[in-house]
Amino acid sequence: MTTDPHPWAATLEGLREQVWLRLVRGVADRRAAARHPTFATVSPAGWPEARTVVLRGADPAAAMLEVHTDLHSAKVAALRATPRAALHVWEASAHLQIRLMTEVTILTGAAVAEAWARVPDPSRQSYGTRPAPGTPIAAALEYDKPADPASFTVLRCAVQAMDIVHLGPQHRRARFDRADGWAGQWLAP
Ligand SMILES: Cc1cc2nc3c(=O)[nH]c(=O)nc-3n(C[C@H](O)[C@H](O)[C@H](O)COP(=O)(O)O)c2cc1C
Repeated sequence: MTTDPHPWAATLEGLREQVWLRLVRGVADRRAAARHPTFATVSPAGWPEARTVVLRGADPAAAMLEVHTDLHSAKVAALRATPRAALHVWEASAHLQIRLMTEVTILTGAAVAEAWARVPDPSRQSYGTRPAPGTPIAAALEYDKPADPASFTVLRCAVQAMDIVHLGPQHRRARFDRADGWAGQWLAP
């Protein structure tokens, strides 16, 4: 007899707990799938924009996530126009697709001083690229990466809804909403 490798997928509560467990693991473990979500925004011209980021914070109780970025990147301009982002993770070992709909607050300056103090030295160069990220340059390496605390930006993402797919012997899909306290609803996959 084979035992179900993912018994947590059988209940809505088990599925939701598993999602947060994976997200929290992503923050702590460089090798975890949720370490590198795809972060999607809507450009000011209405285009979908997706890019890989590092998941820097996950708080299951508050249903909040954190991503760090450069204030002058295109995603920040997109979020100023439409303060929403979708995050996508494929957890291959758990056969789990995680899609998160979030409302994003852009934090800089004094509000992120504590977070900046915790960014290790080599990583600090990721914030402050000159010219600004996405600017055309004459040759591939014609840019500088001075660590610039004024460019360091925390994107605080309040999860509003989650669409979860588990691929098992029988596929399961569920939606969870902040608005109803994450009660959960099975969906046709
Ligand atoms: C593995 C990996 C991790 C990345 N992590 C981040 C990150 O945490 N924050 C970030 O702003 N960009 C990160 N990037 C770069 C983005 O994917 C993207 O190229 C950059 O932020 C510019 O995006 P934008 O012009 O759409 O704003 C990462 C790229 C890779 C390949």
